[in-house]
Amino acid sequence: PQLLDRSQQEELAETLRQAVAAAPLFIPVMPRTGRPFSVRMTNLGQLGWVSDRSGYRYQPRHPDTGQPWPPIPEAVLEVWRRVAAYPAPPEACLVNVYREGARMGLHQDADEEYFAAPVDSISLGDTAVFRIGGQLRGGPTRTLKLSSGDVLVMGGAARLSYHGIDRLVPGSSTLLRDGGRINLTLRRVTRPAPSP
Ligand code: SIN
Ligand code: FE2
Repeated sequence: PQLLDRSQQEELAETLRQAVAAAPLFIPVMPRTGRPFSVRMTNLGQLGWVSDRSGYRYQPRHPDTGQPWPPIPEAVLEVWRRVAAYPAPPEACLVNVYREGARMGLHQDADEEYFAAPVDSISLGDTAVFRIGGQLRGGPTRTLKLSSGDVLVMGGAARLSYHGIDRLVPGSSTLLRDGGRINLTLRRVTRPAPSP
């Protein structure tokens, strides 16, 4: 809880506004059905996670602009260094933008090449009701609230936990001018080269 204080959150929100100007938010759609997600997304880093009719994957370029994703901001890399307990840096930073009514169904983060590094997520703006279960779909779940400045780590046995966002708590934060919530998800996608 509250790993980032208010001024760090404000600075990060401003940094993200600039990144989103370069790598515009897009509305992903579900593989096969083409059903749109209720969140808008973009990515930062060498690899970005995308979903479209042909499936989920990581790719080095923005699907609409064809440009490489902007770099992961230093403040975000710093969060990873503080919490990840993992020697290599993240390669992907997924930016999910939630407006009131947006949600994220239960899923595993399992499109990466291997799962030794944790998944770290940073929450900004309105509080979200986050749901987390175990590694089996349909198992018991529980909820916790993620507030602006909170950082969540899913590592070790929790790396492949099913998780999602039930809903936002509208009006719970004054950080973002237009309300809503931003979540940054940091992931290692490939296995790092062994260190000498
Ligand atoms: C995700 O699992 O992709 C997002 C989780 C969150 O918004 O906190
Ligand atoms: Fe996820």
